[in-house]
Amino acid sequence: MNPILKVDKIEKYYGSKSNLTKAIDNISFQVEKEEFVAIMGASGSGKTTLLNVISTIDKVTSGNIYLNGEDITKFKGKKLDEIRRKELGFIFQDFNLLDTLTAYENIAVACSINKIPARQIQTMIEEIAQKLGIKEILQKFPYQLSGGQKQRVAAARAIITKPLLILADEPTGALDSKAATMLLRQMKYLNEEEKATIMMVTHDAFSASYASRVIFIKDGKIFHEILRGDDKRKVFFDKIINVISLLGGDVSDAL
Ligand SMILES: Nc1ncnc2c1ncn2[C@@H]1O[C@H](COP(=O)(O)OP(=O)(O)OP(=O)(O)O)[C@@H](O)[C@H]1O
Ligand SMILES: [Mg+2]
Repeated sequence: MNPILKVDKIEKYYGSKSNLTKAIDNISFQVEKEEFVAIMGASGSGKTTLLNVISTIDKVTSGNIYLNGEDITKFKGKKLDEIRRKELGFIFQDFNLLDTLTAYENIAVACSINKIPARQIQTMIEEIAQKLGIKEILQKFPYQLSGGQKQRVAAARAIITKPLLILADEPTGALDSKAATMLLRQMKYLNEEEKATIMMVTHDAFSASYASRVIFIKDGKIFHEILRGDDKRKVFFDKIINVISLLGGDVSDAL
């Protein structure tokens, strides 16, 4: 069986010859179905670039990225739109909710774009809202919601169509610790109970400790990777901190 995601010897360069940044410098890894992978690394190490090329927002300089066996670096136009809409779910740091729509409507948009029949949409939204604890706030507009609630609406929108892969860039970045913990628990629930495959970029060891695997990148290369196995979250957290100290740089920056 194909892995959900196979990243094969990718490079991403920015700038011209005289002023070249190797944002990604020969990275390969794969993500299996139902994994929850965190990508960690210092600021500027290439995390967002990696997520952006996987999400097809940006193009690689060289190498291939296979989503369920299909090389998405070769896709263009309509086919690319279709992949983004159907196979990928996004959770961004700044939520990206539409301000003029209610929480319910924001989630419904994802369903309509994917041509889910109108009569099914309401049941689907109620079900996911129940699971993410946002049932009471569905009729509110984004400006009436807390950061944590907005992020959970964004998570509902990302997963309601059951994408192959959920990509999250610093999803807890704008949240306080209580809201962050709640979101992380819910992502873990989606992963374990709803069988969602998740790839999450974070510079924060606490968030990463919810994942089942952590890949560390440094200067655009994979530096190390650790698996949670049967470790309790706190034990895994301590292991992550250990790797961060090996990575060098400012550890406090990563906490
Ligand atoms: N559009 C761009 N043009 C030129 N250089 C860029 C561009 N985007 C990113 N870079 C460079 O590529 C490198 C990797 O950036 P990236 O945004 O992937 O880092 P990051 O790990 O996400 O950092 P952070 O934790 O601060 O978000 C950096 O050196 C950055 O300056
Ligand atoms: Mg980034």
